[in-house]
Amino acid sequence: MVLSEKEQKFKVTPWEVQGDVDYDLLVKQFGTELIKPELLKRLEKHTGPLHYFLRRKIFFSHRDLGWILNKYEGGEKFFLYTGRGPSGSTHLGHLLPWLFTKYLQDKFDVELYFQMTDDEKFLYNEELSIADTIRFSKENILDVIACGFDKKKTFIFSDIEYAKTLYRIALEISKHVTFSIVKGTFGFNNSTNTGLIFFPSIQAVPSFLPSVLKGKNIPCLIPASIDQDPYWRGIARYVAPKLGFYKPAQIHCKFVPGLGRGGKMSSSEPETAILTNDAPELAEKKIMNSFTGGRATIKEQREKGGTPEICPVYHYYLYLFAPEDKELNEIYQDCTSGKLMCGDCKGKLGIRVKTFLKDHQKRREKARDTVQDFMLND
Ligand code: TRP
Repeated sequence: MVLSEKEQKFKVTPWEVQGDVDYDLLVKQFGTELIKPELLKRLEKHTGPLHYFLRRKIFFSHRDLGWILNKYEGGEKFFLYTGRGPSGSTHLGHLLPWLFTKYLQDKFDVELYFQMTDDEKFLYNEELSIADTIRFSKENILDVIACGFDKKKTFIFSDIEYAKTLYRIALEISKHVTFSIVKGTFGFNNSTNTGLIFFPSIQAVPSFLPSVLKGKNIPCLIPASIDQDPYWRGIARYVAPKLGFYKPAQIHCKFVPGLGRGGKMSSSEPETAILTNDAPELAEKKIMNSFTGGRATIKEQREKGGTPEICPVYHYYLYLFAPEDKELNEIYQDCTSGKLMCGDCKGKLGIRVKTFLKDHQKRREKARDTVQDFMLND
């Protein structure tokens, strides 16, 4: 396949996101669909005024969302499935899809299955031991719980520790997944370890897990960032009809940018990521040191205005810290007209991030007492 110049500039795989992602192009490459206004109207009937993640097209793409709504309207409840690869501390970018998942759980009153892929991160990352990824998994689970999920309706599990149940289903799946399929879907080659070659069948399991546990077919909706799509397109949706299950539907979000120039937030670049266990003052400092879309001098900024489109600080307001459209529009206007200076803009964001972290960290500590209520064991 010959890639156009634009396509060569970015790369999105489940393990790596590089460059300036063109989301419209990505939707074409992956073969997903943009969430159209008609579909938003249908969602709104059930949720009330749309979440700003939807209004702002942060959740922007889907597979079979209309089908999920058909089922729901016909009286068949779906369940939610999402997950986390525990390779380090949680950062704010990870929280975004979880917060949306919590919103969906509340609005549709449905169950959530949450997978911790400690096996995947062990297999992928040469530096991590099994003990490391299990440890991160336990830490990350506290962040998941701190998002406020309903403990009666939320089931969290670690792949390594819940393997007895998962493995049987993974076997059924993997019998249909050839090396040629995973090669084509994930770009694996002869030097990829065989654990990773099997792993996609494990990540497909939760799409069918409640159907297996309850002995009846239940529709599945997966909220996730779009880099996970290959797992569903290539594996879960491909094997579903062969095993007599519904194909899982998806709703996809964009990546929260890091505080540096370009690229998504990543725990492996801690100075440009806000970690949920950062001291609030440190987080504020990171914001104050952030790259911005501002001009070289105050004078120039007054004359020409800043460029919010390339500014991580603006994106933080857009994605997480200015849910009211009125305020966001004001920030945009004041920035582009040269009225708002980067220092003030960062200062205000810093305070919000600090307050958010303080609250989150309190909820995270409290979560230690309730972890067992959320865990699936076999
Ligand atoms: N592979 C994902 C990651 O590395 C974790 C994951 C497992 C996941 N199942 C999921 C993410 C379902 C979203 C939805 O982070």
